[in-house]
Amino acid sequence: MVAGNWKMNKNLQEGVALATELKNMVTNPACKVVIGTPFIHLATVAELLKGTPIEVAAENCADKEKGAFTGEVSAEMVRSTGATYCILGHSERRAYYHETAAILKDKVELALQNGLKPIFCIGEVKEEREANRQNEVVKAQLEGSLFHLSAEDFGKITLAYEPVWAIGTGLTATPQQAEEMHAYIRSLVAERYGKQVADDTTILYGGSCNEKNAAELFANEDVDGGLIGGASLIAEKFCAIIAAR
Ligand code: 13P
Repeated sequence: MVAGNWKMNKNLQEGVALATELKNMVTNPACKVVIGTPFIHLATVAELLKGTPIEVAAENCADKEKGAFTGEVSAEMVRSTGATYCILGHSERRAYYHETAAILKDKVELALQNGLKPIFCIGEVKEEREANRQNEVVKAQLEGSLFHLSAEDFGKITLAYEPVWAIGTGLTATPQQAEEMHAYIRSLVAERYGKQVADDTTILYGGSCNEKNAAELFANEDVDGGLIGGASLIAEKFCAIIAAR
């Protein structure tokens, strides 16, 4: 899978223009393609991309089902737009909006209950990598929000390893660092759910992945694609990354 995460970029008209470019360019991709857009774009973009190989993701959803939560957008509302995926646990949500493992656990459950497939982000910050604590951090993130799920529900999750020090910084994990962590994540999934589920789990890499380094990252055995920020905002770059998969 190659998934884009537009973050808080593009107004509605610009988003429709980008989705239209992608619709015309991504006609027969060799992998699953998803674009994550701001909430207000979802209904229009999902309609525009209906019948194409491109699926649409929200970048977040509420941790409550419905009711008096002014300004929030529920998983059910997201699903009603035609979006099929939901990015959850992005490091920017964890850091700036104080999303804890427990909150994310609720979001994952609500997404699944409403037929959305979570793209769940995990990854360590720079200080944790420098202290060689990346494995314990990622393990705690999986255990805190996902490992309570049944094997059937876990099978609907796509994981995205995004080392926080690599996001938007131009610093990419080396292919070796990515493969090491992806293999470790897969081993944790195997321990919890068995080898078959682990083999079937899609684990994306994210963090300054672009059209120049994508092929080298995707060549690793345990790197099953990418979650792309900045480079997903330019159709030619995003398409080159899809072609690298
Ligand atoms: P960049 O590709 O801009 O580093 O962002 C990665 C990311 O956070 C995707 O979710």
